[in-house]
Amino acid sequence: MMRARGTSLRLFYIALTLSSVAWAADFANGQTSPAHDGPPLAATPGAEPPPLRSVMAKHFLVGTAIEPDSIDSPADAALLAAQFSSLTAENKMKPGTIGVAEGRYDFEPADKIIAFAHAHGMAVRGHTLVWHFQSGNWKEAPDWFFAGARDEPQYRDIVAARLRKYVTDVVTHFRGKVYAWDVVNEVISDNSNQVYREDSPWYRAFGKDYIAIAFRAARAADPDVKLYINEYNTDDPNKREKLLTVIRELRAEGVSIDGVGHQMHISVNRPPLANIKQALDDVAALGLENQVTELDVSLYADSGECWRNPHACLPDLGRSVPNDVMRAQALRYRAVFDVFEHEPSIKAVTFWGYSDKHTWLSSTPVSRTNLPLLFDADLRPKAAYWTIVDPAYQP
Ligand code: G3I
Repeated sequence: MMRARGTSLRLFYIALTLSSVAWAADFANGQTSPAHDGPPLAATPGAEPPPLRSVMAKHFLVGTAIEPDSIDSPADAALLAAQFSSLTAENKMKPGTIGVAEGRYDFEPADKIIAFAHAHGMAVRGHTLVWHFQSGNWKEAPDWFFAGARDEPQYRDIVAARLRKYVTDVVTHFRGKVYAWDVVNEVISDNSNQVYREDSPWYRAFGKDYIAIAFRAARAADPDVKLYINEYNTDDPNKREKLLTVIRELRAEGVSIDGVGHQMHISVNRPPLANIKQALDDVAALGLENQVTELDVSLYADSGECWRNPHACLPDLGRSVPNDVMRAQALRYRAVFDVFEHEPSIKAVTFWGYSDKHTWLSSTPVSRTNLPLLFDADLRPKAAYWTIVDPAYQP
């Protein structure tokens, strides 16, 4: 009996583990929703974690977005220098910070990130020269760009000159210090009847022409830097087709573009891997480079509606997140890196943060516990980290 009991208990546990791994794998591939805690995650290898930057060096640069204060913390600075071969300024290279007023710039916080990166053999990608974003009174397209009477015949040329000068001055300041720029960010509409995002101060001032103005000014200011168009939900075939059409039209106008930045804010179960792969292949088919520019894996299998209506978002998982959700996240990271590592057109993969202590997903689309990154709040590598650096590790 005991033996029989022992054996049946072990069989039960194996069944449970298999079912939860199968469930987690299903979950990671977009099939089911969390229901139970599941067995603890497998212990991570005792060895010193191999640095992400060296494990990935044969494939691509691996980076993270940071705020300057991360550099002031010795533990964070040591982790950043050990693990990453590329840095992005999460906010300090955007017009909302640099563009204080017409002709007046604040480069100091960005220069601090550049100095740290170069001191540790890390490259820096610039994010972003032109964006429409506004939250409360925080604007990433500051008002001074658009000052003046809109019905004035010269208004459009005045705003175009301000944009051209801003891009020229900023790209010139970072020339030789930045290897790629997101020249424009999020210019494609999510609205199926529109190609371009029309709820943008840039579009309202110029229609689509601001995009070509920005790319031409960036190329003129730095002939060597890689110029990217950065977008989210590029896995969505309709949105992607609009993006590729815009790129074809720009190139037909002689505008030089080097690549597409796929933000890749994904979740444990969305989007399907095949859609991610197709997005990368379609860009490569145009002879363009790919970068993954803002990767994070949300714990929530929210429907898309959640981003339009917060009431449609899944409830807070709370501080003790079920093991199977963390397992699904680790398996998801492994699954997407399997795709990335087989895409030679990918030049860099950047995470939108490195530690769960600082992530936009703890307040967006709603405030709730979200642990989307590779290191926990105490900078310990998570199962997600281990599945990337050690494919043999099964969470
Ligand atoms: O620094 C100002 C502060 O002076 C001011 O008092 C305060 C109140 O208005 O705002 C502070 O600025 C905040 C800024 O981050 C710097 O911390 C803005 O409110 C806040 O909206 C802004 O959020 C950033 C957001 O982009 C907008 O720039 C997030 O941290 C950043 O993670 C997020 O990143 C974006 C990518 O650039 C593009 N893709 C999506 C991604 C997530 O939204």
